[in-house]
Amino acid sequence: MKVSKPLFAGALALLFAFAGSAGAQGDAKQGEYLVKAGGCVGCHTENKDGAVPFAGGRALPTPFGTFYGPNITPHPQAGIGRWSEADFVRAMRHGIRPDGAHYFPAFPYPSFTKISDKDLSDIWAFLRALPPHARASQEHDLGFFFGWRPLLTGWKWLFFTPGEFVADSQAAPAVNRGAYLTQALGHCGECHTPRNFLGGPIASRYLAGGKGPEGKTIPNLTPTRLKKQTDGEVKDFLTLGLTADGDVPAEAMGEVIRNTTSKLLPEDIKALIAYLRTLPPVE
Ligand code: HEC
Ligand code: HEC
Repeated sequence: MKVSKPLFAGALALLFAFAGSAGAQGDAKQGEYLVKAGGCVGCHTENKDGAVPFAGGRALPTPFGTFYGPNITPHPQAGIGRWSEADFVRAMRHGIRPDGAHYFPAFPYPSFTKISDKDLSDIWAFLRALPPHARASQEHDLGFFFGWRPLLTGWKWLFFTPGEFVADSQAAPAVNRGAYLTQALGHCGECHTPRNFLGGPIASRYLAGGKGPEGKTIPNLTPTRLKKQTDGEVKDFLTLGLTADGDVPAEAMGEVIRNTTSKLLPEDIKALIAYLRTLPPVE
């Protein structure tokens, strides 16, 4: 077969254009917003002044020990610079490390599994575009036994259902958007749904609150409690951190407000509240 030179050059140019963008096809700008909606910065940034965002080091105390959010900048050794987009999708959707080991659910992949393919691709594009940082990730400091990753096979079998969010065809689009923000990106259930002694969420008490890890009470977000507040009050709480009685919210939620809900677009806050109103009331 005889190939003309211009045709060959054109094909090469196409090939290079494709290779150049193969790192990330998603929309990094959109990814930046989704990363806020996911609160990634909080767990992946040291809790001190001048800390480098996403370079890891945040201590996350749990009943099983202290986890440290790893470096997720594109640094080839310290971060996830050598990962492919497929590695990233597998981590978020299935809680599996590139070497095949399981992640601890302190990384809220049981919620992130519901993030759509398109949004994962945009988040990946955003992370790819971060400045690489050489801060080494810390080992977790876990109790004997709990630190053993193969145990997570059992935990995942009991409590983890992988798969993208499925919209409810009976519900209004805004309610579905709110459900997606709450269940997938916002991972609100990670705190607002009580857990059993194995650290598994109690499905029948979804978002119904209870005792948090430090013995503090986490409020019920189902209409049983939330109906006492108007949409405007819930919105002021989520966007400005103002409680109905003029108090400051507890720090765990204060951080969610700072990093996440205060950064959401007005229509997304509205959708979130609309969804919470539709939850089955739980005492
Ligand atoms: C509640 C805290 C928390 C939040 C929020 C969180 N992460 Fe993480 N993440 C962790 C922890 C802890 C690990 C380590 C888990 C392990 O070692 O098993 C982790 C691991 C990861 C990893 C794997 C890193 C590696 O080196 O293997 C990626 C990628 C990641 N997170 C991305 C994200 C993104 C993207 C978001 C936001 C959408 C996010 N995380 C939000 C706590 C969090
Ligand atoms: C890290 C744990 C944590 C996460 C994640 C979290 N919350 Fe909270 N939330 C709390 C705590 C603790 C309070 C109690 C604050 C207070 O009363 O001072 C609270 C309070 C609230 C309240 C006030 C309820 C009331 O009746 O006063 C609302 C509304 C709320 N959260 C919504 C959300 C939404 C929506 C998300 C997901 C985007 C979310 N929370 C994620 C811990 C969390």
